[in-house]
Amino acid sequence: MNKQITFAVSRFDGETSYIQTYQLDYQSGKTVLWWLNAIKEEQDPSLTLTVACRAGLCGACALQVNGDPVLACETLLDPLLMQGQVKIEPLNAFPLVRDLMLDWRGAIARMKSIHPWLEVENDQTSSTGCVQTQMEYQEVKPYVACIGCGICASVCPALAGEGFIEPFLFVKARRLIVDSRSSDRSRQAVLKAVRPYLQNCLHCGLCEEACPKSVSPEKAVSSMVTDV
Ligand code: SF4
Ligand code: SF4
Ligand code: FES
Repeated sequence: MNKQITFAVSRFDGETSYIQTYQLDYQSGKTVLWWLNAIKEEQDPSLTLTVACRAGLCGACALQVNGDPVLACETLLDPLLMQGQVKIEPLNAFPLVRDLMLDWRGAIARMKSIHPWLEVENDQTSSTGCVQTQMEYQEVKPYVACIGCGICASVCPALAGEGFIEPFLFVKARRLIVDSRSSDRSRQAVLKAVRPYLQNCLHCGLCEEACPKSVSPEKAVSSMVTDV
């Protein structure tokens, strides 16, 4: 008989949360996302999750495996198996739509509130271009790798209290403040929007530790504290 894996998956039907187990024949070298798709295709099409790029680029597939937040599409299951069993849960700190699908509406509203878009100076137009040198790009490089997966928010202890926003929003803010193409007006608007929250970061570093793209929201916060 083939070796089997038991998946204990958190389900949410819009009102009630419960755990559902699925058993599948083991295959080596498959990602967590591959297995979740196998569950959907072979056993339960109602299992709901979000996926887009399948290449570690969009952040849509972030979830927890045995309590650790990961990107399902770039995480192999084999090292995470515990005696043939694995627990799959949604990220912490987000409301749910269904099963493993997060409700991002609150986070997106907070994202809009910090003005996270590039507003250039008037002398940079679509005809003249917004040229950035390699040296100038080095300033934004530590922040552009953020894919907005939400993992940093799911581990951030400061988010449990009042007066804080998702750590990746500080990354977005810092990225715009140090971007050579940003206008002074937009830099000031972003800094003003995040300033009330900076003091509430605990500087625990959990966000950086958990980030699958090696981005540090904590460093973004620290560097903006010195800007204030
Ligand atoms: S900082 Fe890292 S963990 Fe947070 S949203 Fe960006 S990529 Fe994800
Ligand atoms: S360093 Fe700050 S932003 Fe990062 S997890 Fe800790 S409290 Fe949250
Ligand atoms: S599906 Fe895009 S990062 Fe996993």
